Amino acid sequence: MFSAYLAPLLLAAVAVAQNTALEVEAIQAHFTAAGIVPSLLSTFNPSAVATLNFPGVGDIKPGQSLTRAQVGPTPSVAITPANSTVTLTGNFTLAMVDAGPVGSDESQGVTRHWLVNGATVADNKVANASAVAITQYAGPAPPAGSGPHRYVVILYEQPASFSPPEEFSQPNIGVSVFDVNAYAQNSGLGNIVAATYITVEEGQTTASLSATSAVVTSTLPVPSSTGSQSHSGSHSATSGGAAPSQTSQGNSATTLETSWGLVALLAGSFAAML
Ligand SMILES: *[C@@H]1O[C@H](CO)[C@@H](O)[C@H](O)[C@H]1NC(C)=O
Ligand SMILES: *[C@@H]1O[C@H](CO)[C@@H](O)[C@H](O)[C@H]1NC(C)=O
Ligand SMILES: *[C@@H]1O[C@H](CO)[C@@H](O)[C@H](O)[C@H]1NC(C)=O
Repeated sequence: MFSAYLAPLLLAAVAVAQNTALEVEAIQAHFTAAGIVPSLLSTFNPSAVATLNFPGVGDIKPGQSLTRAQVGPTPSVAITPANSTVTLTGNFTLAMVDAGPVGSDESQGVTRHWLVNGATVADNKVANASAVAITQYAGPAPPAGSGPHRYVVILYEQPASFSPPEEFSQPNIGVSVFDVNAYAQNSGLGNIVAATYITVEEGQTTASLSATSAVVTSTLPVPSSTGSQSHSGSHSATSGGAAPSQTSQGNSATTLETSWGLVALLAGSFAAML
């Protein structure tokens, strides 16, 4: 009884130090809840958290619903390693693809909205000083009435042996449908370091969609508000030092709540075992 009472507190204390590790677990849960795993990615074991920041909007939480106007400008991508043993040196490939609404058949290919080779991670951000934009960022433009499309941003390790296929070896190739998994495999990309996604919907949905297309944050346990407030400071380190606009603060809080929801879940299961 006594242990069952203390366990959640102990786990919560550990979680303060491991906030990013929890965010890694949270994004894995998001990808499964949103059907991105296994439909687009057969497995997903990231070693870092990716946070998009759109100019004028702020930091974006996983799965956040945004308008076409909000996602028009190129976002910056903050990358926070899960822990101090994760080093992000060398080159990386950044991709954004349209995985369509939940239930889409991604085996037929996905629309490529962004593909950058030779990016690096500097100051916990994706840097493109020596990068090559095979496809320049092209903001989401889902067909009206086709439902909430999931735009997935993926950062891959790009080993020295990387060798892209002929058709993706030159810059400034326009948006088109391709098989991102085949590309990653054929060009010799390494592990997925981090990934996140947003949803963008145009007009009223007329298509019949899977019930799981609801906002996925709601599928994670409801957090305690005390937890998210008292630890909002520790989260700011993961936002890549972005200027804290009102919007970005709100979004950070929500991301944190997701983490704290997982803490509550883990603490609950742990307490139940005692
Ligand atoms: C650090 O994070 C990586 C990637 O999530 C994980 O595999 C590893 O076990 C972690 N190491 C420690 C010491 O927590
Ligand atoms: C680098 O980022 C800037 C700002 O987002 C963008 O305008 C430019 O096209 C990018 N260059 C490459 C090679 O991706
Ligand atoms: C990174 O890519 C650049 C070219 O974009 C290349 O010159 C360099 O050797 C690569 N570094 C590694 C570690 O692969």
